[in-house]
Amino acid sequence: MQAAELLVSLHAQRTLMVVDPFFAMANSVREIRGSLAEKAIASELFTDFQPDPTDQNVLAGAACFSMFAADSIIAIGGGSALDVAKMIGVAAGNPGPISQFQGYHRVSIPGPPLVAVPTTAGTGSEATKVAVITDTARNVKMMILDAKLMPTAAVVDYELTFSMPKPLTAHVGVDALTHGIEAYVSRKANSLTDPVALSCISKIHANLRAAWSDAGNEKAREAMSLAALQGGLAFTNSSVCLVHGMSRPLGLMFHLPHGLSNSVLLPTVTRFSWQGAKARYAEIARAIELVSGKSSDELACESLAAWLDQLNEDLQVPRLRDCCGGDLEKFRATLPKMAADALESGSPQNNPVVPAATEIVELFELAW
Ligand SMILES: [Fe+2]
Repeated sequence: MQAAELLVSLHAQRTLMVVDPFFAMANSVREIRGSLAEKAIASELFTDFQPDPTDQNVLAGAACFSMFAADSIIAIGGGSALDVAKMIGVAAGNPGPISQFQGYHRVSIPGPPLVAVPTTAGTGSEATKVAVITDTARNVKMMILDAKLMPTAAVVDYELTFSMPKPLTAHVGVDALTHGIEAYVSRKANSLTDPVALSCISKIHANLRAAWSDAGNEKAREAMSLAALQGGLAFTNSSVCLVHGMSRPLGLMFHLPHGLSNSVLLPTVTRFSWQGAKARYAEIARAIELVSGKSSDELACESLAAWLDQLNEDLQVPRLRDCCGGDLEKFRATLPKMAADALESGSPQNNPVVPAATEIVELFELAW
């Protein structure tokens, strides 16, 4: 197996396998563990973490890493497995609370070699210097960004994504689409990330519906895995923006998976944001041929937003109200904190239109 060969090349002798609990009994994990043993690499399994992993999960994993005297990590799973694995490596070498790493470039000592094996086509965490970890004391999803979080190597194998159920395919697929779009319209967009972001968006436009309706569609699954990787590469060298800024507190407050909380916000936030970067959003719409090359920027932008609405409908993504219990008054009571947390994350400041807290509240209500 390629993952074992990579670990040999990284001089690994004892590897902590951080594996999504859903995959713990999977044949693929057994095979990887067997191939590690064949290469004389001892391995220990760590699966004790939740979706939207917490600082407690990280500390438990770091204790496991130290107890096993591991020298390397292999992460197998979706964004949660990859993110928790990144921070387990950091926590093992940097004592203290995980909250010390929140924000930008706060990691002193890099973690051990990390091989990332994504099993969903969404977060692109295998190619990013970002981890999102919940601080249980403050009930905040911390965005941790540091070049030292970039995995040493990634094995992107679309065959691992065949087992994703339809809703997960939809939500992580729209998450990857959000990475492509936000990387392209971000104030930090640049000529290196632009073509990667557009390629990501085009692949998703052409393949997400097919991957969703036919789980075994190899061509569509392969394209989606590549698109997710490109989305990660693009946004980690540009940035995410307002959708992600609002999505993190929303997901935390209502226990929504990351992809779902992005999906329910993407069309509404796009309609708000294109006013600040019409030409950029219009280029996206033209690149995927939603409109002709001669159409106005306004028509192209509106076509893009309409396509995002239609995509959510086709993929049976629920409305925000259906994800949050349907009680608008209860939802409204959460909005000031969610708006403040969104702004504090720094992501909305990269948006083409930088919103005030009151505008974020309005956007949540519009998406309802
Ligand atoms: Fe994301």
